[in-house]
Amino acid sequence: MDQAIRSIEAAGRRLWPRNSQERAVERFYEPGVERYANYHGGMLNFGLWTGDVRDYPTASRNLVRRVARSIDLAPESRLLDVGCGMGAQDVLLARELGCNSIDGVDVTWKHVVTARKRAQEARLESRLRFHHGTAVDLSFADGSFTHIICIEGAEHFDTRRRFLAEAFRVLAPGGRIALTDFSMKRVPVTAFERLLAELGRRGWHVPRENVDTADGFRASIEHAGFRNVRIEEAGSDVIPGYYVRCMRSADSGSPARACGLMRSCSTCTAGAFSNTSSCRRKSRKPAVAITPARAFFSIASRGRTVSA
Ligand SMILES: C[S@@+](CC[C@H](N)C(=O)[O-])C[C@H]1O[C@@H](n2cnc3c(N)ncnc32)[C@H](O)[C@@H]1O
Repeated sequence: MDQAIRSIEAAGRRLWPRNSQERAVERFYEPGVERYANYHGGMLNFGLWTGDVRDYPTASRNLVRRVARSIDLAPESRLLDVGCGMGAQDVLLARELGCNSIDGVDVTWKHVVTARKRAQEARLESRLRFHHGTAVDLSFADGSFTHIICIEGAEHFDTRRRFLAEAFRVLAPGGRIALTDFSMKRVPVTAFERLLAELGRRGWHVPRENVDTADGFRASIEHAGFRNVRIEEAGSDVIPGYYVRCMRSADSGSPARACGLMRSCSTCTAGAFSNTSSCRRKSRKPAVAITPARAFFSIASRGRTVSA
């Protein structure tokens, strides 16, 4: 193994305590990373299926670009990406927007290693740094960043509220944060709805406190101290497109089959988590179709100097 790869695989691994949420999430994502690291271009989001978007790579990049635009990312931004996954979105931001300084944090060690290799292959390692860590205890000084993004990770954090407090702390006054996240349309009413929501929550490793509605979500962001909070519902442009695409790859018998099935299940989970009442079973398909789930963009700023 060459020296550079050896140091990528050695630096900064943390061992999460037994029974911690961090350990459970890491074990959830770790299996098969070597096989899926480049599937979907290395992205793990559901994509944003607007306009004439027809394929997953376009949809996933569309989502990342939309998030970046919402907080005016620029070359001089000091960006923190929390729950950065395998770093593909950060390579995109560095290449397309010229972001010169991005720190990514992820709880899954294999994702961090993959992200570091990706940065190295793209010759961007001087601008992109990836850390093994947890969103709820960030190892950065107060006011270190001008911008934070968190794409489809916050539902896992123990808890989302603790993360938002940390995000507020490490963001400089006037800085901005953008999240894409999932919430429920309403509180489940029937026993069946409650059961589905609970199964989804557990299967997708979502702490009970993170199961919330959009109003609760807004309250959490404001409680952390953020102002100018804007929440946009994007559910109908997220889950249905992803679901259709996954079903195609699951049907194709390609190497993507297993991954397609897995992602379809996760689509169910996110959807059930979003709105249990909209589940319906499709006759010949191996998963439950959910339309539409609620996914959100939330944009907020720290302090009053920037309006979102
Ligand atoms: C659905 S993936 C999204 C990854 C990436 N943002 C993307 O869109 O490709 C969620 C990510 O959040 C990470 N994650 C979950 N809990 C975390 C925590 N407490 N701290 C940091 N990362 C966490 C997971 O390891 C996983 O990489």
